[in-house]
Amino acid sequence: MARYLEIEGKTALVTGAGRSIGRAISLRLAREGAQVAVADIDRDGAESVVAEIRSAGGEAVGLQADVTSSSDVDATIGATVEAFGKLDILVANAGIGIVARLIDTDEESWDRLMAVNAKGVFLSCTAAARQMIRQGHGGRIVINASGAGKIAPGKNTPLGAYAASKHAAIGFGKQLGLEVSDHQILVNSICGGIIDTPMWDLIDRETARILDVPEGSVKAGAVDSIPLGRIQQPEDMANVVAFLCSDDAGYITSSAMNVEGGLLPY
Ligand SMILES: NC(=O)c1ccc[n+]([C@@H]2O[C@H](COP(=O)([O-])OP(=O)(O)OC[C@H]3O[C@@H](n4cnc5c(N)ncnc54)[C@H](O)[C@@H]3O)[C@@H](O)[C@H]2O)c1
Repeated sequence: MARYLEIEGKTALVTGAGRSIGRAISLRLAREGAQVAVADIDRDGAESVVAEIRSAGGEAVGLQADVTSSSDVDATIGATVEAFGKLDILVANAGIGIVARLIDTDEESWDRLMAVNAKGVFLSCTAAARQMIRQGHGGRIVINASGAGKIAPGKNTPLGAYAASKHAAIGFGKQLGLEVSDHQILVNSICGGIIDTPMWDLIDRETARILDVPEGSVKAGAVDSIPLGRIQQPEDMANVVAFLCSDDAGYITSSAMNVEGGLLPY
């Protein structure tokens, strides 16, 4: 059931929306009555989410786009506006994880992480902000960053390059929020914890290999440390995205909001 009636009729573009958190965000915004452009590098993933939205009575289009390519990003914004007439909400969700100790991280992995998680956010958010400024009706931009964008992941958590890319995304979002504030475009980052998606399965598998511990034990240990006592679900993130797109969040910008069950209490 829709909760934020003001989202009805808004147009949203979600990147990396073909599965997991991006899928949950797309379904939730569609349930609130938004028209959703579901963009992903994986066309089939995007189309399957579009089918889910349509079968629930919502409106959506699927777009194939790589967020590291400015021409793809610009084409995605153009296709969204062509389909729905405007762009009110961007959720810069696309991201990847690579697991390695910093001293073992190769140049290619560093460049790839920075390209998707930092440059992809820069390209998507600035293109969306320019479109919103042209329209003149404000807008909402939500960056799916991470708790790893606020802290060092830890001695036995080999996510240093990932964390650096997410620190970049959060820093970028804080400044963008200030620069576009005169246009009533609100920019916020959300910082998740341990979310039950293929990304955390990869982190578990690769960390277990690096630390020489049994597969499954890294994820189980991480989940044990969550104060709220359960692994996070993609819908926990989608709930907060919906709130940040609502009128109730009209005084929040340039923030980096924790959504992590108490895992990182700062
Ligand atoms: N899973 C977690 O625990 C967790 C925690 C905090 C933050 N996050 C962040 O949430 C976001 C989504 O993560 P997830 O767990 O749903 O990951 P996921 O791997 O399940 O899904 C990511 C989606 O992004 C798409 N994608 C990857 N590279 C892309 C590119 N260059 N251009 C466009 N799309 C691309 C993939 O095809 C996939 O559909 C990421 O930014 C991630 O860093 C995840």
